[in-house]
Amino acid sequence: MSQGIENLFVENRTFPPSEEFVAQANADKSVYDDATDWKAFWHKQALNRITWFKEPTEVLDDSNPPFFKWFADGELNVAYNCIDRHLETQADKVAYHWVGEPGDELTFTYQDVYDRVTKLANGLKSLGVKRGDRVAIYLGMTPEIAISMLACARIGAIHSVVFGGFSADALADRIEDAGITVIITADGAWRRGSVVPLKAAADVAAARCPTVEHIVVVKRTEKAVEMTDVRDVWYHDLVAEQSTDCEPEVMNAEDMLYILYTSGTTAKPKGVVHTQGGYLTQVATTHSYVFDIKPDDVYWCAADCGWVTGHSYIVYGPMANGATQIMYEGAPNFPDNDRLWEIIEKYKATIFYTAPTAIRAFMKWGDDYPAKHDLSSLRLLGSVGEPINPEAWMWYHKHIGGETSPIVDTWWQTETGAIMITPLPGAVDTKPGSATLPFPGISADVIDADGKTVPLGGGGFLALDRPWPSMLRTLYGDPDRYVATYWSQHDGLYFAGDGVKRDDEGYFWLLGRVDDVMNISGHRISTTEVESALVEDARVAEAAVVGRSDPISGEAIAAFVTLKSGVEGNEDMIGELRTVVADKIGPIAKPKSIVFTDDLPKTRSGKIMRRLLKDISEQRQLGDVTTLANADIVQEIADKASTPSD
Ligand code: WT7
Repeated sequence: MSQGIENLFVENRTFPPSEEFVAQANADKSVYDDATDWKAFWHKQALNRITWFKEPTEVLDDSNPPFFKWFADGELNVAYNCIDRHLETQADKVAYHWVGEPGDELTFTYQDVYDRVTKLANGLKSLGVKRGDRVAIYLGMTPEIAISMLACARIGAIHSVVFGGFSADALADRIEDAGITVIITADGAWRRGSVVPLKAAADVAAARCPTVEHIVVVKRTEKAVEMTDVRDVWYHDLVAEQSTDCEPEVMNAEDMLYILYTSGTTAKPKGVVHTQGGYLTQVATTHSYVFDIKPDDVYWCAADCGWVTGHSYIVYGPMANGATQIMYEGAPNFPDNDRLWEIIEKYKATIFYTAPTAIRAFMKWGDDYPAKHDLSSLRLLGSVGEPINPEAWMWYHKHIGGETSPIVDTWWQTETGAIMITPLPGAVDTKPGSATLPFPGISADVIDADGKTVPLGGGGFLALDRPWPSMLRTLYGDPDRYVATYWSQHDGLYFAGDGVKRDDEGYFWLLGRVDDVMNISGHRISTTEVESALVEDARVAEAAVVGRSDPISGEAIAAFVTLKSGVEGNEDMIGELRTVVADKIGPIAKPKSIVFTDDLPKTRSGKIMRRLLKDISEQRQLGDVTTLANADIVQEIADKASTPSD
């Protein structure tokens, strides 16, 4: 038998959308039928949703796979689509309600965005930035981050946004790889009441990278910074005298729009390349159908523009659709654990999109925080970034969604550029923990190690068996690595690197990264399923499990568990939690050891670092952990894990 992944966790709850929601939804079931001719479907979306300078007649060029082209004879400008074309009908509509962490607030209309983007675009030109040049954006979540991305898009420069939580070294690696000439940064960024010294890090990076000619500095925190003559210029000085006349550059659909590095844990980061026409088509289409966006919605994607979620669903998708958004600068627990709920109440947010790691933190902090606020304006919730455990889904549904808002669990990747597997909220019954079905026009499969389809009911590897408009086109400067990483496992299939199972109705249940799958006595068991079983216990806030080598079973399951506020772990609980897993999944999945910890090691984007926990469990020397969001916790866990409970 070829190796798949076991399907053990059973979740039977189903949530159909309400009749009222269905009646007003942007997408009904007919959209799936509409997309049977998928190329025609995407062509129609491209023509209907985008204003082209030259409309594309070609749809997909697949003559040189896996280097696909979409709408290759089309011409457009992405910033024009996000701003200019809205001015005639909605210049005074709010584009962003921006909330600063210290409490300052700003509101930007579409006209304001136009004025700022054109001035910055002219400012960048005055620094010598030309079409095709690469610009790094290293900022916190202030309005300038979106403005800078759009200003680059307007003049045909390629942006590379580097998350503001990354170090000078990480920034320098990315600058070097892309040959960056200009960095846009700030005197600092607010994070949980203190200042992240962005400019100081940019200085260190620039010292290593001779390609950097200018650093543009946003004044945000009033923290003193060093300004190097000629090279460095204040953002406010740069834009002060600029005009708002700035013709948008006419771009080919396949010209590069941006590079975004995916944070590899050890290997050199991969510069994922996205282009213009196909990308904008798919982010606009998914943003409209998945988030059901209407003209009077107040939409909030609580991500950071340093990640692809911010690119596609804070900047390009929502702006192309002319949406009103909320943008928040800081941490969800500053000054207190109800900051996000306070913002939702104040601005009457209708749509809220966040990550499972955040939802599990909200659960841990307790139900009282959301209960203090009126969240009744919300009508749709979204989740992205990791598999969402059914218990966390139910909590989100009850405590944030008031048991009425549909939840869209959206599976996608930096590489896919836009949402790929997701419910259409007015057309698909949801199940807690399932991303449900491929988006119309998208095709996905569950395959075994030989690349053969696993029948419904079984588990295996997620593959995409047809190109899609917002797909990555290559890895910057490294086409061979693009082919090797994604296209060389099985002929003609894009290998996503995720485990997945499909239920009898064809719903997809993501099971975590393939590298995390455990092998227990010859059974391939997903970390997600065991973690979800642990999180079912009302005392558990979050859990991570790994397979550690075991002389008898090959691997034994080691669990790391954080408890809800106010709960103390003890020996009895360890026994009880093992029983919970045995009952939910089967005795084979019972953790051999359980360690209680205050936190779990996470990447800066909130993903649990299971590989590190595996090193701890197998008492290996720990590598560099400085890229983690919470490096301190690693030693603490290592100390506790050296006295395992078995
Ligand atoms: C990986 C991609 C897509 C924007 C943020 C992450 C995991 C993402 C889900 C989901 C289960 C998910 C996958 C994927 N992932 N969304 N709804 N259910 N897993 O982008 O950093 O490129 O990570 O995130 O493992 O491969 P990314």
